[in-house]
Parts: sequence; C-alpha cells; structure tokens
Amino acid sequence: MLYTKTVTAADMKKPLSLNNQLFTNNKYAYYKYLRENDPVHKGKLLGPVSSYFLTHYDDCLAMLKDARFVRNRTTATGGRRLPFPVPKSVELLMNSMINVDEPDHRRLRGLVHKAFTPRTLAALSGRIETLTHQLIDQAEGKEQIELMEAFARPIPVTVIAEMVGVEAEEMPRFHAMMYALSDGMNGMKMPKTLLFDMPKAVKFVSGIVERKRSKPGDDIMTALIEAEEDGEKLSHDELVAMVFLLVVGGYETTYNLITNAVYALQRHPEQLAMLKADMTLLDSMIEEVLRFNGPLQATKPEYPTEDVTIRSVTIPKGATVLPLLGSANHDPAVFDDPAVFDITRQKNQHLGFGMGIHYCLGAPLARMETKIALQILLERKPNLRLAVDPSQIEVETRAGWHQYKAMPLFLD
Ligand code: HEM
Repeated sequence: MLYTKTVTAADMKKPLSLNNQLFTNNKYAYYKYLRENDPVHKGKLLGPVSSYFLTHYDDCLAMLKDARFVRNRTTATGGRRLPFPVPKSVELLMNSMINVDEPDHRRLRGLVHKAFTPRTLAALSGRIETLTHQLIDQAEGKEQIELMEAFARPIPVTVIAEMVGVEAEEMPRFHAMMYALSDGMNGMKMPKTLLFDMPKAVKFVSGIVERKRSKPGDDIMTALIEAEEDGEKLSHDELVAMVFLLVVGGYETTYNLITNAVYALQRHPEQLAMLKADMTLLDSMIEEVLRFNGPLQATKPEYPTEDVTIRSVTIPKGATVLPLLGSANHDPAVFDDPAVFDITRQKNQHLGFGMGIHYCLGAPLARMETKIALQILLERKPNLRLAVDPSQIEVETRAGWHQYKAMPLFLD
C-alpha cells in the first residue's frame, strides 16, 4: 500500500527528514502533499544537514540536466567537500564517479561504460538463467523462503562480483560494510561511520585491488588496473572508489527492484493475473515498478554554483539540493492516475534510473537481470504468495530508498 491515511497535514507541514519513520511509512502521501503545497521544500537530509527537496517531475528533470548543479560541493562554494572535516579515506569514496562532475566524470565513465552495453550484456543472459534455476532448485521442498536472501540478492551479487572480478567469498563483507555505511550516515552513528567504517571499507577494497594486480582476469577490475598503470587515465584512489561503486551499485538496487516487483504484483492480483496470461508484459511491468515503487527515491545531492530560483523559491549557491525521484514518478502532471499500478502503462518516462550525466550505467543490466529472474520465478512458481499478512511487511527507514525489510513467501 503506497498511500496511507495515518499522517495528517500537520505532520507533513513540518520540515521533512528522509530518515523519519513517519515519512518512511507514508512517503507517497508526503510527496503528494509537498507537490501540492510546498514543491521546493526545505527539510533535513541526514541528521542536521539541511536540504532543498524538489518534488515535481519537471523540476527534477531540469535540475538533473542543468550544469549549474554540481556534485562536488567545493566547486560550488570553494569551501570543504562536506560541511565538516573528514578523514582521507572518506574523501576517496567521495570522489567516486557518481560524486564528481565533468570532465572527471566523463573520463571515469568512459573507462567502464563498455562493460555495460546491451551487446556485452546479452552474452551474460545464459549465466543469469542458470543461476536463477539453481536458486529455485535450492528452494524446492522448503515451505517458506525469504525472497531477498534466497533469491533476489544472490542473483545480482553473483553477476556483479563476476563482472568486476571480486571473489564470491568477499561479497558478504561488501554487503556488511555497505550496510554499516548507509545505516551509519545518520545522527549519533555518523562519527563512527566516518572515522571507523569508511576507512575499513577502503582498506578492504584496496586489498582486493592489490590481489587482482598479481592475479589478473577477464574482468572490469583488471581493465581498470591496466588503465591505472597506463598513467593519467585513473588514479589508484579513483580505482578503489570505482570498484566500490560498481559492486555496491550493481547489486543493492537490483535485488530491491526484484523484491519490490514481487510485492507490487502480490498487492495487485489482477495485474499479476494479466502478466501470467501474457508474459510479454514483463518489460512494461518492470518499468512500472521502477515508477510506482522503485528502489531509489532520490539521487546523490547536488549543489548550485549560483543562486537558482525554482517555483519562486531561491536556492542559495552551495546549498544542498535533492530531486525526489519517487515524487517525480508520481507527479499527475506527467503520469495519468499515478497512484494506480498499471503494468500496461504506455508513456512511462519515469526517473527511476535518474537522468542527465549520472543516468544509471547499469540500467540495461538491471532490466535484464530482473526480467530473467521474474520470468523464471513466475513460470516455475506460479502459486507463490506472501507468507504473512501485508501489514506485517515493513519498509526500511533508509534515506533515498524504498526497500522492504523482509519478504517471506510461500512458493507452492
Ligand atoms: C534496479 C536497479 C537499479 C536502479 C533502480 C538504479 C538506479 C540508479 C540511479 C537513480 C542512478 C543515478 C544516481 C544519481 O544521479 O545520483 C544510478 C547511477 C548509477 N548506477 Fe544504477 N541502478 C540500478 C542498477 C545498477 C546496476 C546493476 C549497476 C551496475 C554496476 C549500476 C551502476 C550505476 C552507476 C555506476 C551509477 C553512476 C553513474 C554515473 O555517475 O555516471 N546500477 N543508478
């Protein structure tokens, strides 16, 4: 259920905080309220950090294409990268491709984009099919499974580990670290995350890069190491940041897309029946999930290099600004009946993969993995259904995401 009635206008009048429980459980109601009453809203991003939130589709789109908005705060303000001092390892992760501007961004993206073209990916489809079948085989005979753990996560984890050249045994540590990092960028936990968890993550990934140097393979990390050894193209720090970005960006979003799709279909049985009767609707169903309850609800923050006025609100130079993709994707000015989950929706230019120069590099891979996974799952387990009442399915309180805590299913 995306629109609930448990929040009041008085709640929604208060400055928004993306980590707030009430917002987490009612984000689509908040978005609607903000679009209608306070479309360029000043609230809180993480802890005490203020941010302007854009809620209309057109404003989000325009901002993501506007070169006056940059990711490196120093470019906009001449001051520090973050509003507080941070260790060197944090700076290193801050310099990953998703957080830098042109021309550095173009140089970095140019080094990795070849690994993600549809043609290179088509060669991967057989591997994904085999993997999907194996996971369902393993689940045979079990009365109940937890979808993410048993199915949705292992598929993209294995695929991205193999593409980047990370050993399968190293992936659980990536997962644990990534969780510590994203969960820890909040309130009291932030100092520990910045001083302890981030340096630890950087050390771990540096170690993997060093190992790969002596044991090259047919993978993205080896290609990046060669680019680094070539001089100029990539620094060691950029290499470490890229490996981290690709691994984490490559599985986290995708397992949530698979899970969010299963949930949306369970909550809309007539749409599920339509899909089962005509599996050619899989592609438009996936686009609809990206719009309706996509995993990423916001991009990374951006900073204007000059004062910018949007809908008569002047955002000062250097302020933090976040386009709320989830709100843009429910904007009635662009989508007919946005609260309706319609897997046959035609004009669906959602922003679930972002837009502009940072548009998702892995979008074709994510679409392919999700399509194969769901096709095989629905064909082999047509009776799968939630193992608990929908009211028991909880949403994670995690800034910028729409992610469920667990998805217990009966398969047969
Ligand atoms: C359902 C799955 C996925 C969703 C919803 C998703 C969503 C997004 C979004 C919204 C952005 C823009 C973020 C921003 O502007 O700050 C993005 C960027 C990115 N995504 Fe994805 N993503 C998915 C899967 C993947 C996969 C499988 C990969 C594979 C490595 C990947 C790699 C990246 C990278 C590297 C960027 C940064 C691109 C740049 O800075 O130029 N994503 N993604």
